[in-house]
Amino acid sequence: MDLVFAEKALLGLFAAVTLAIVVSKLCGKRFKLPPGPRPVPIFGNWLQVGDDLNHRMLTGMAKRFGDIFHLLMGVRNLVVVSSPELAREVLHAQGVEFGSRTRNVVLDIFTGKGQDMVFTVYGDHWRKMRRIMTVPFFTNKVVQQNREGWEEEIRLLVEELRRNPKAATEGVVIRRRLQLMMYNNMFRIMFDRRFESEEDPLFNKLKAINFERSRLSQSFEFNYGDFIPVLRPFLRGYLNRCREVKERRLRLFHEQFVAERKKMMEEQGSKFELKCAMDHILDAERRGEINYDNVLYIVENINVAALETTLWSIEWGIAELVNHPAIQIKLRRELDTVLGSAQLTEPDLVRLPYLNAVVKETLRLRMAIPLLVPHMNLHDAKLAGFDVPAESKILVNAWWLANNPALWKDPEQFRPERFLQEEAGVEANGNDFRFLPFGVGRRSCPGIVLALPIIGISLGCLVHNFELLPPPGKDRVDMAEKAGQFSLQIMTHSTVVCKPTKLCHRCQKGNNAGRAELPSRAMSPWIPYLHRRVFVRRNCIAVIVLDAGLLLELCLLSTITLRLVTPPGFTSNSKDCETAEE
Ligand code: HEM
Repeated sequence: MDLVFAEKALLGLFAAVTLAIVVSKLCGKRFKLPPGPRPVPIFGNWLQVGDDLNHRMLTGMAKRFGDIFHLLMGVRNLVVVSSPELAREVLHAQGVEFGSRTRNVVLDIFTGKGQDMVFTVYGDHWRKMRRIMTVPFFTNKVVQQNREGWEEEIRLLVEELRRNPKAATEGVVIRRRLQLMMYNNMFRIMFDRRFESEEDPLFNKLKAINFERSRLSQSFEFNYGDFIPVLRPFLRGYLNRCREVKERRLRLFHEQFVAERKKMMEEQGSKFELKCAMDHILDAERRGEINYDNVLYIVENINVAALETTLWSIEWGIAELVNHPAIQIKLRRELDTVLGSAQLTEPDLVRLPYLNAVVKETLRLRMAIPLLVPHMNLHDAKLAGFDVPAESKILVNAWWLANNPALWKDPEQFRPERFLQEEAGVEANGNDFRFLPFGVGRRSCPGIVLALPIIGISLGCLVHNFELLPPPGKDRVDMAEKAGQFSLQIMTHSTVVCKPTKLCHRCQKGNNAGRAELPSRAMSPWIPYLHRRVFVRRNCIAVIVLDAGLLLELCLLSTITLRLVTPPGFTSNSKDCETAEE
């Protein structure tokens, strides 16, 4: 930074301080603000509280100032609510008043100042985007159309892990393969496309640029320039980098994915059948409801909102299960009893209460978006008897609502049983204001309909097929948290040992077809017993070829194939079978 620039910045700062004090004295409105630390001019509370406004730090402040408190971060008003009653007020009772979103300087860039859906203010544009996205993304029909794809993706993952000898001994960073699975789950829905392997160059390009987008927007590094506009020139480099990443990313979406579907649509004209989500979105563009930029921002939103959150949750779930072997065993017992050795599918989820409890407990303790996506009031509003100035950023500390010992028994413990005992009936859909992993109300997460089955299928299949263990020499995996602007990720992508269980899913080609013929798999606890005891092989074909020379008169050669038949749906747990298939 040159001296002239520094001099100008300091002069600007001085002028702004003076102006702000004068203006606030002359025409400042008299608000009865919620309690909070006393702000100083220009900086507000920034110097006292710093940049790292994560859920734990804000919980500490709630203990000091109460369930509603106010921070002035430079020029930005921030109101944090930390009780179920106030969450209800913000998200439900005054859902319209507080239904907008704030964007910081970085999100302004990545969303084209709110041309997307997630970060746009509450109004006509948001309503239109949400309506257009609902049919292709957020209905149960989408789940039913795509669930076999998700089941296939996790099956491929399981097969790869079983084939990898390292997985069962040294362990693997399972997250890397899960990431490919998650991309495939979403890109199948969006574009009817998938990536072949972790080495796929396009997958790697996409992953890298999504990572950079996420890193730049989740960092607390740029807060000072966002809070104190006069310091913004110092952010020039950072914001230029954001602009460059955004341009490259949208170009990638356009060139590699959207343009392909658009071309197909144009070429086939009226004969074109809407097949994947993008076709519906492009159809809306063709009808003039949205423009092409909106189309690209929808792809941007899904790449962030759907992929990362779900992946983080699966990763947290695995880590908790590794560190709680007794819970893992109990879960595996449920899966064995209900499914036998058939692969878990989406319709099975309703019959797996303990698995559902594990998913909920993961979302409670390790909430991927612990402060929800920031809300905002467009106009001056009232909350709990206090004034909330227009355009305040409203944070609902959903993590604290779900982890406050005054509201939950032993909340710091990972104990799925709670959702079958004292908290039975509490769902992740917001039927209880203490538990809001997806928010609730107008701006709640519409992706819950996809996220819950994907997490359930993924965790369930992994535990059904593998004993998940810490790497050799360690007795647990690291659970340190990494908080971002509004994310809660696991800090270390741990190595996990995946020791195959006695199941032999690799021997279950056509498993689903076979299962359908089983009478009442879930209701019959003796079926898994039978699997183990009676039927030792399936699809293992023994071929015996007799010497053709001895049977010349019978033409060319004679081959006798002996097939050891197993009734459909019944599979083997035999080790021999595994070796034969290898
Ligand atoms: C475990 C996975 C997920 C979690 C924990 C999660 C959580 C959330 C939360 C907390 C919000 C904000 C709610 C609020 O501000 O009141 C949200 C919004 C949103 N989520 Fe999710 N989400 C997940 C998966 C998904 C998926 C799979 C999709 C899409 C397929 C998705 C799409 C969205 C969208 C579009 C919004 C913005 C809604 C709006 O502003 O109107 N999410 N999500």
